[in-house]
Parts: sequence; C-alpha cells; structure tokens
Amino acid sequence: MANENLSQAKRAKNDEFYTQYPDIEKEMNAYLDFNADVFRGKTILLPCDDPEWSNFTKYFVLNFERVGLKKLISTSYAFDSRAINMLSGPTEFESRSPKFDPSKTRSRGKIFTLTGDQTRDGRVDFDDIEWEYLDGDGDFRSDEVKRLRDEADVIITNPPFSLFREFLAWIVEAEKQFVVLGNMNAITYKEVFPLIKDNRLWLGGTGGGSMWFRVASGVPEKEGQRIEGEERYQSFGNINWFTNLDHGRRHEPLALMTTANNIKFSKHKEVRGVGYQTYDNYDAIEVPFTDAIPSDHVGVMGVPISFLSKYNPEQFEIVGSFNAGAAGDEIGATKTEIKINGNMSMWNGPVINHKPLYKRIVIKHRSPTT
Ligand SMILES: C[S@@+](CC[C@H](N)C(=O)[O-])C[C@H]1O[C@@H](n2cnc3c(N)ncnc32)[C@H](O)[C@@H]1O
Repeated sequence: MANENLSQAKRAKNDEFYTQYPDIEKEMNAYLDFNADVFRGKTILLPCDDPEWSNFTKYFVLNFERVGLKKLISTSYAFDSRAINMLSGPTEFESRSPKFDPSKTRSRGKIFTLTGDQTRDGRVDFDDIEWEYLDGDGDFRSDEVKRLRDEADVIITNPPFSLFREFLAWIVEAEKQFVVLGNMNAITYKEVFPLIKDNRLWLGGTGGGSMWFRVASGVPEKEGQRIEGEERYQSFGNINWFTNLDHGRRHEPLALMTTANNIKFSKHKEVRGVGYQTYDNYDAIEVPFTDAIPSDHVGVMGVPISFLSKYNPEQFEIVGSFNAGAAGDEIGATKTEIKINGNMSMWNGPVINHKPLYKRIVIKHRSPTT
C-alpha cells in the first residue's frame, strides 16, 4: 500500500508538463485537412489547461475565426490542488485584471471564455477573452466542470496522465467528440480497448512515439531534460493522440504482400524463408511486424499493438486483444504451459513453443487479396 501511494505520488508529479504548439497544430491540421468544417459552429472545451500559457488555448484563440468556432472554453486547475508546488505566482494577465483576488488565486480554478470579437476591433484575439475564477478548484470531476463538458461539442486536452482512465470515461459517458493525448499503454486498458474494437476511439492523425513537453518550474530536474532559454523540456515515450474525430490516415490502406511474397522478400528475418507460426493456445497466425501482415490470409492474425497507428477500419476488423487474463478468455485462448527461467506455469496470453509473447491485437482482413 505504502509503495502504491509512493508510485502514485511519483506519477502525479509528472502531470505538470505542457504540450508544444507545433504538436497541437499538426494534429488539428490532420482533422481540418480531412474535414475543413470539423470545428465549425462548435463549442470546444479545453479542460485541465492553463489558459494563460497553454498552447491549446493559444491555438484555438488564434484560429477561432478560421476554423469557425462558436465558443471556446478553457479551464485550469487550482495551484493549491496540484501534486507539485507551482513555484510561479499569478501571471500578469491575472494580477493586472480588476478581477484579481489574492484570496482566490491559488485555491480556485479559472475559466476563460471566448465567443467572438468582444472588443469590436475587427478580429478575434486574446483581448476578446473573458475570464473568472471558478467556484471550485477546476477538477474535471466537479459538477461545475461537468456542466461545461455537457455544454461542449468537442473536448481537447492533454489530461493528467495519472487520471487518464477516469478522464476518458468522463468524456465517453457524456458521448462527446474528443482529441486527447495519452500513453499508448492505455490501448490495452479494459475501459479503452472495447472502444477501439467498436470504432468509437482510434489513434490520432500524427505522432506516436516520444514527444517533448515543457515542464513546470516546480518539476524536479531530471537527466535527459533539455533546457532552452528559461524553459525546461522533457520527453515522454510512447505518447499518442486518442480521438473519435476522423482523419485521412485511417482511410489509407496499408500496402501489403501476399504470404508467398513475404516468405520470399520480407525484410524481416523472422518471416523471410520462415513463414508464420501459429500460437500454442489460439487458432491464429503470429505476425511479428505490422508490415509483414500477409494480404491474402483469410483467418485471424495476432499483430503488435503498434499496428493501431496504421489501422484502417475499412481494411481490417479488430477481433480482440490477446492478452493474459480476461482478454485471453474473451477471444477463446486456452491456458497453456509456459516456461520462464526453467519454471513452468499456465498462461492464456500469446504463446508459441511454450514461450510467452507480448500482448497482441487480433485482426482479420475484411477482404483478403491475392
Ligand atoms: C499534462 S498537464 C497538461 C496541461 C495542458 N493541457 C497542456 O497540455 O499544456 C495536465 C494538467 O492537468 C491538471 N490536473 C491534474 N489533476 C486534475 C484534475 N483532477 N482536474 C483538472 N485538472 C487536473 C494538472 O495540474 C496539469 O496542469
């Protein structure tokens, strides 16, 4: 228990990192390229944000008119509620405002709202933003922020990774459109995978892999952080966008070779001259690399999780996730003997020749082609 608390605290510390503008711009362009009207007439909520310095807020303020937004709402979490001590005081934006209240600045969340050209100077920009303290601390789970969620059409943010499951459930229960950043591990969560399988959630249009974030001044210094001017940046591996907005990449079919050609020409030594193995405990072939999926295979195939960044739902059907425990049971994998360091045990995750493999996603061609 003590250990669990400690690791939770450590993880929570990692919540104070901020997304860079070009990463947001690239991702939003993937949706806009596919559908220029994707945000037109919409209300966007950016929760778990810091409107005063967030690049999410900046992006949607600068592009408010171009993308045709109806309303932008951005909320922040109170400094006092955060897991790390935010060393910075109020921004000038706040402290110079007539609404500034020293008794609320650290204990309350804030809400920024943009609805159009309030200043009547002919353009929508930062001067048109209206702001207030929230009644509470801006926790996304509060009734106050829930009401904002219910008002919104699209929810976009980089949420606290320590609360990712809860955050996603919060969006899904309200049946909202969303674009959120998270760790790829989330794919196999029991709350997330069924959404992927049912095409209610997929990976975003760009990215996948490691991404650099600006870290707050209160975050401890760590090896590998990059310093640029006054700012510190840290990279996190295995990050991806999760969304239910459509984009072009998921309609591009993967170019694949037949089984025979993979055996002849595959660049992977595990496949070339060897072919495909079948699992000890499940009737499917093991495909160790996404680009080695045989185009003509009629049955089910186990592929690495990274397949999802190439997944085109018109080309493939997702049958399930092949993982020890409930997921293995669900696809009908049986328990089989595995040997680890000479010890035998029983397992229903993917196994070949008594050797356990990494989690797999089980897929099928919609129309196998020769
Ligand atoms: C990963 S940061 C990203 C901030 C911003 N969206 C960005 O990308 O620049 C997540 C933020 O969520 C805040 N946060 C943590 N727990 C929260 C909660 N329960 N409700 C709302 N915000 C929370 C953290 O303080 C942190 O500032």
